[in-house]
Amino acid sequence: MTADLFADAAPEPRTEPIVDGAVVLRAFALADDASLLTAINAVITQAPLRRMQTPGGLPMSVAITNCGSLGWVSDERGYRYAAHDPVSGQHWPAMPAVFLQLAQRAATATGFVDFVPDACLINRYEVGARMSLHQDKNEGDFSQPIVSVSLGLPAVFQFGGLVRGDRTLRVPLAHGDVVVWGGDARLRFHGVLPLKTGSHAVLGAQRINLTFRKAG
Ligand code: SIN
Ligand code: FE2
Repeated sequence: MTADLFADAAPEPRTEPIVDGAVVLRAFALADDASLLTAINAVITQAPLRRMQTPGGLPMSVAITNCGSLGWVSDERGYRYAAHDPVSGQHWPAMPAVFLQLAQRAATATGFVDFVPDACLINRYEVGARMSLHQDKNEGDFSQPIVSVSLGLPAVFQFGGLVRGDRTLRVPLAHGDVVVWGGDARLRFHGVLPLKTGSHAVLGAQRINLTFRKAG
């Protein structure tokens, strides 16, 4: 009999290519999950999650906030980065050290050795929330990658091409997975399918995504 002695053990980190320039680092953030969640709670106490309006005037299904010297915002004027939280008028909270270190380790592991993110977007998906296909293109320097950390309920990440209509790959993402895309993949369309019902042991019925960028 070949019983799997390690069936309940935490998954081991491993690297999975998606396309040229894009990889999933499975379980890369798992060891830091408790400190990440403490830091997320501190950020959202200062800059609460909110559903921003799209330029078309509809509320996004995902609730967002930011930390770092720049934050991504959306309203009827469009998408952009801003140094201040439009709700409070204050600077966004500083990027917690545990965020910065994780993002830099993930970038380095995929060959981006000088990544210094100045913006971290925090996305909170409740059941049914989704993010439609888009490109991350409001940043000043496309030589820097995007580092994206998944926590909580699993989700299906869509990874497409440089044109919206291109075929998309579906990449399942679990708690602790980190996706890094840059180089030739930096401007590929991506999105998240509607979050399925479930309950995560730590985060309950939600998924939190941290997206690190060099925005300025
Ligand atoms: C994003 O593209 O900003 C979010 C991606 C994700 O939630 O995994
Ligand atoms: Fe994105």
